[in-house]
Amino acid sequence: MNEDQKKQQVKAMEGTSSADVKSDQNKDYSQYFQTSYTPPDLKQAKKRGKEDVSILYNFDIPEDMQGIGKGKKFLIRTYGCQMNEHDSENIAGILLQMGFESTAVAENADIILLNTCAIRENAENKVFGEIGNLKPMKLENPGLIVGVCGCMSQEESVVNRILQKHPHVDLIFGTHNIHRLPDLLKNAIFSKEMVVEVWSKEGDIIENMPRARKGKIQGWVNIMYGCDKFCTYCIVPYTRGKERSRRPEDVIEEVRHLARSGYKDITLLGQNVNAYGKDLVDMEYGLGDLMEEIRKIDIPRVRFTTSHPRDFDDHLIEVLAKGGNMVEHIHLPVQSGSNAVLKLMARKYTREHYVELANKIKTAIPHASFTTDIIVGFPNETEEQFEDTLSLMREMNYDSAYTYIYSPRDGTPAAKMEDNVPMEVKKERLQRLNALVNEMSAANNLAYQGKVVEVLVEGVSKKNEDVLMGRTRTNKLVNFRGTDASIGTLIQVKVTNAKTWSLDGEVVETVGVN
Ligand code: 5AD
Ligand code: SF4
Repeated sequence: MNEDQKKQQVKAMEGTSSADVKSDQNKDYSQYFQTSYTPPDLKQAKKRGKEDVSILYNFDIPEDMQGIGKGKKFLIRTYGCQMNEHDSENIAGILLQMGFESTAVAENADIILLNTCAIRENAENKVFGEIGNLKPMKLENPGLIVGVCGCMSQEESVVNRILQKHPHVDLIFGTHNIHRLPDLLKNAIFSKEMVVEVWSKEGDIIENMPRARKGKIQGWVNIMYGCDKFCTYCIVPYTRGKERSRRPEDVIEEVRHLARSGYKDITLLGQNVNAYGKDLVDMEYGLGDLMEEIRKIDIPRVRFTTSHPRDFDDHLIEVLAKGGNMVEHIHLPVQSGSNAVLKLMARKYTREHYVELANKIKTAIPHASFTTDIIVGFPNETEEQFEDTLSLMREMNYDSAYTYIYSPRDGTPAAKMEDNVPMEVKKERLQRLNALVNEMSAANNLAYQGKVVEVLVEGVSKKNEDVLMGRTRTNKLVNFRGTDASIGTLIQVKVTNAKTWSLDGEVVETVGVN
């Protein structure tokens, strides 16, 4: 197809509140779309309306799209967090229901979707590199559908750049309208025009989207969508919309279903899981209440991510302290050890409050392992403020930490702050921080030496196919020799060698618990 002749039929739904749109199969969506292109708008995305979010249980593949994928293959490349991984499971589920098959080989694919991450600039650069790489493939095979979805699609600058520089992209959709994929794909396949549909405002919660889960041992369960915290550096509240909780009964049913299907380890997902339930207007219900219910389900391990220290309440700690399937691993992002930086980040807690909370958790759950997220080089961060972060790391004795150099995100308040910290200084701080993280991780692992730990066997090690790998309840990676039959079971392993990032061990009990 001649790209110059390629017209852009762009559809965008702009600023439409969830109250305006009750997505259902019988509804004519066209009334919400403008015929000319209107880009996504972060300012619209920032607005938090009071409209109720509807929960819809009637997702179906439209009749004219059923079976349309017969004999065709799709490939989804996923970037970023677990939320994106989980969205990709939904996207794959929809495509499989349409008759497509999945493939890992790009050359064999009829549809390639990039499910993107906007959290830092380097994540975006990777995606633009990949979009560029797909151009020759598209030229060679004009029937190939190239799609971009996920958080980057929610950004006006990204959509404009694709429109201007990458006309070989056929389809752009966002995080709020995944359930619209069958119709969008139909437009992309049959019209051969670039289809852009990005909703700046979040839509409804769609409960029964098909899902093609990646694994059979570990499963993700979304408990809420969006984030209302608006940390000043973060793009997520703009790309993922306002906080919307799933109904507890729907979450519980999904966990029960996974338990019945043999899953052993469940991660409850949300951008700010501790705010779970705050938007459920007809009930007083929080994450602690939800965990109390899930505790009773016969599944060996349950964890959640990501926590915000501000909303982590006593009831949740009480429930976690009961143990059982509530694992003793808490990922509690702190971001910085300096009160001045925390204030500029609008994290809404102090270092002292964070440590007090962590100590409360440690008292209730003595063997709890803590991990965290840290940003270095926030605008104007001083050496002293950075050293506050180092000292907090030591004080907390984290098992490990995800560490990042601050990346300005267009449209966020921090991106407007002047910044006097040179990139070399930021890089050097990251190195110093990482050296400390390594040191702490190695020291914490050493404490496991000679101990017997419960390991959930996940599969064969990626590095050595003679070796199996699994994780402890505290999420430590353990490598050991064993039989494939133990994959998916819980076994006892004695730690023989503690390394910086993993443990080696030997099986002390060969028969696993199924
Ligand atoms: N720059 C660097 N790191 C960021 N994070 C979020 N936004 C940014 C940004 N603009 C980090 C935070 C968060 C993790 C998921 O990503 O540490 O907890
Ligand atoms: Fe971003 Fe997390 Fe802050 Fe929400 S709580 S704005 S997702 S860093």
